[in-house]
Amino acid sequence: MDVARAMAHDPHGVFARMREAGPVHSIVAPDGNPAWLVTRYADVQAALGDPRLSLNKAHAKPGSYKGFELPPALDANLLNMDPPDHTRLRRLAGQAFTARRTASLRGELGRAAQALADGLATRERVDLVHDFATPFAVGAISELLGVPAESRADFRTWTGAVLGANATRDGIRATVREMYAFFVALLAAKRADPGPDLLSALIAARDDEDRLSEDELTSLAFLLLFAGYENSANLISGALLAMLSDDALRDTLRADPEAVPVLVEEVARHMSPALLAIRRFPIEDVELGGVLIPAGDTVFLSIAGANRDPRRYDRPDRVHLERADPARHLSFGQGIHYCIGAPLARLEAELAVRTILTRFPNAKRYAPIAWQPSIRVRGLAALPVELGD
Ligand code: HEM
Repeated sequence: MDVARAMAHDPHGVFARMREAGPVHSIVAPDGNPAWLVTRYADVQAALGDPRLSLNKAHAKPGSYKGFELPPALDANLLNMDPPDHTRLRRLAGQAFTARRTASLRGELGRAAQALADGLATRERVDLVHDFATPFAVGAISELLGVPAESRADFRTWTGAVLGANATRDGIRATVREMYAFFVALLAAKRADPGPDLLSALIAARDDEDRLSEDELTSLAFLLLFAGYENSANLISGALLAMLSDDALRDTLRADPEAVPVLVEEVARHMSPALLAIRRFPIEDVELGGVLIPAGDTVFLSIAGANRDPRRYDRPDRVHLERADPARHLSFGQGIHYCIGAPLARLEAELAVRTILTRFPNAKRYAPIAWQPSIRVRGLAALPVELGD
């Protein structure tokens, strides 16, 4: 079995073995091309902030990297850019996506979580991934961006088609075409009828001052939506899994509501919803973990491997609330590409845990869980739960 395939089924096992065998490995990437994988916390952390590692595919050696092959109208996004373009676009996105806008969603998102929980209350058994975490995360990012309710089911199916272990190149291409058509129509509708949402704010930034090209606008909308729910849904279900798997932990959360955000950080570290950082291309020969990597090669950074590095964390495979620095994990990246949606993801997971904890105090798992096979994202396929009285 090749490394990519093994990673899809047992990412933590594979990363642990590679991390112990050495800091940097030569692998075959999912697109069949050679690449490097960096496995340890100190090296991954340094590489995330290293300006010599470009995210722009223009720095890949010709013919050495295929990736998703997005059309230009979806590819002019923050995760394919370096300064100064990245700086300009990130500032614009940051203006619309403020911490205050996220915090102001607390009340609304809390009510949305309650409403979803109310909808479950008549049932004995539910799947908290399908019936709670996913619709909650999809609803949250849709509200923020201004995606109408009737469109939300469509884009839930896209994720599997693009990120699943069985995704094919043709399948990905067809899905990407569909997504592009969706965003063009959505942006046209917002332009005709602006609302108080983030997409309307970004369109205003584009139209008033022309600081954002049309491709950049479509790409940003695409990135925010696509990055905005799959990872969050996975973090939410991971946090619920941790809570439902450990009675002592659940008692602590009940006794001390301040412990809930700590759990969310610890789960973000332990499960690492994004297993790998976005691929990077050295703009010059660089040394990583003592290995010389030639300019233009493809470099993957194992966020999941770093977050469970025993050189950095005591008992890294355990979820517990007593870590001295629970938020210093690398799950949201680091440096100029630090996740713009981290406050939203944290808020969603916190509200989800609080809601299930108080609404269904006797909920318990009744069947084994399975993970979605993927080398990119870590998420539960289902979380079957009996809600209890
Ligand atoms: C648990 C949930 C999430 C996780 C684990 C996550 C993870 C990450 C990571 C690791 C990066 C850095 C990539 C790199 O440097 O290679 C990143 C960047 C980014 N994330 Fe997230 N993310 C999450 C939720 C969100 C949400 C909710 C949004 C939007 C609503 C979002 C939007 C973005 C954007 C736009 C970037 C690019 C920032 C830039 O390049 O300046 N993410 N995310």
